[in-house]
Amino acid sequence: MRLRGKVAIITGAGNGIGRATAWLFAQEGARVVVADRDMDAARDCVAAIQAASGVAHAVETDVSQDTSVADLVETTLDLYGAIDILMNNAGVSIGGSVVATEPERWARTLDVNLSSAYRTCRAVIPQMIQQGGGSIINIVSLQGLYGYPHFAAYAASKAGLIGLTRQIAVEYRDQNIRCNAISPGGVIVANKPARTQRLEPQFAHNPSGSPSPTPSADTARRTSPTASRLRQFGRPEDIAYAALFLASDEAAHISGHNLVVDGGESASVSEHA
Ligand SMILES: NC(=O)c1ccc[n+]([C@@H]2O[C@H](COP(=O)([O-])OP(=O)(O)OC[C@H]3O[C@@H](n4cnc5c(N)ncnc54)[C@H](O)[C@@H]3O)[C@@H](O)[C@H]2O)c1
Repeated sequence: MRLRGKVAIITGAGNGIGRATAWLFAQEGARVVVADRDMDAARDCVAAIQAASGVAHAVETDVSQDTSVADLVETTLDLYGAIDILMNNAGVSIGGSVVATEPERWARTLDVNLSSAYRTCRAVIPQMIQQGGGSIINIVSLQGLYGYPHFAAYAASKAGLIGLTRQIAVEYRDQNIRCNAISPGGVIVANKPARTQRLEPQFAHNPSGSPSPTPSADTARRTSPTASRLRQFGRPEDIAYAALFLASDEAAHISGHNLVVDGGESASVSEHA
């Protein structure tokens, strides 16, 4: 077991990438705090982990609220007495060009996707210092690295989070705290299409940010079990395995890194032409 004895907080772990990571971390011996504002989803995730003999606890958390994050840290310490791993995963994907993005949606996107990580890290790092170290993983996006039309606030939030990742890596290196990012490409979450505008153009024009209900024919082709898994949408567990590596002691000498997990999409010149 690669995380035996560790305590992990994962935000936004009720669904999607966070949920897959919570399940995998628990399978690898971690005690997992499933932090989500959606308590039905969080409880469902915990039930799935417990059904597989894992240890997890759901904590209602809104990462955009200082008091809620403080409660999350306090509850985790009351439950498990330590925090070894923090994965900042909760996020919202709100579409819109610069001009089309009203100030409220701009502020909300940056608050949930970027300031949330400042908030959780500020609350957790002193505990990690006291314990002699820890691992922080920030879930960013290809959209923090490359321009995709109609995602101004989202791209800015994810690019900012890459900067914060490096900053934490530098500032707390001497305290043995590692901080890394993961940049997923498009990931199919349950029955929702991936949120990469480039691959699902119809999503970019939906100002609510809600995914369209059914995957397109192109999505179905790309996700066919007989097709190569590269150059198509990823699965939540693809990101979870990357997070497992970065959380584990196998990555003890890796910090300040942004690990791209996109099936090779961003490696191709033609994808960016
Ligand atoms: N799915 C993709 O294609 C993709 C691609 C690149 C990056 N990402 C990033 O991965 C992360 C997870 O994405 P996902 O597709 O699994 O999303 P998802 O919508 O399936 O799950 C996100 C979870 O975060 C929770 N959440 C939202 N706002 C919250 C808040 N204020 N406080 C606490 N919890 C909150 C939701 O309730 C939900 O359970 C996000 O940061 C997203 O930007 C996703």
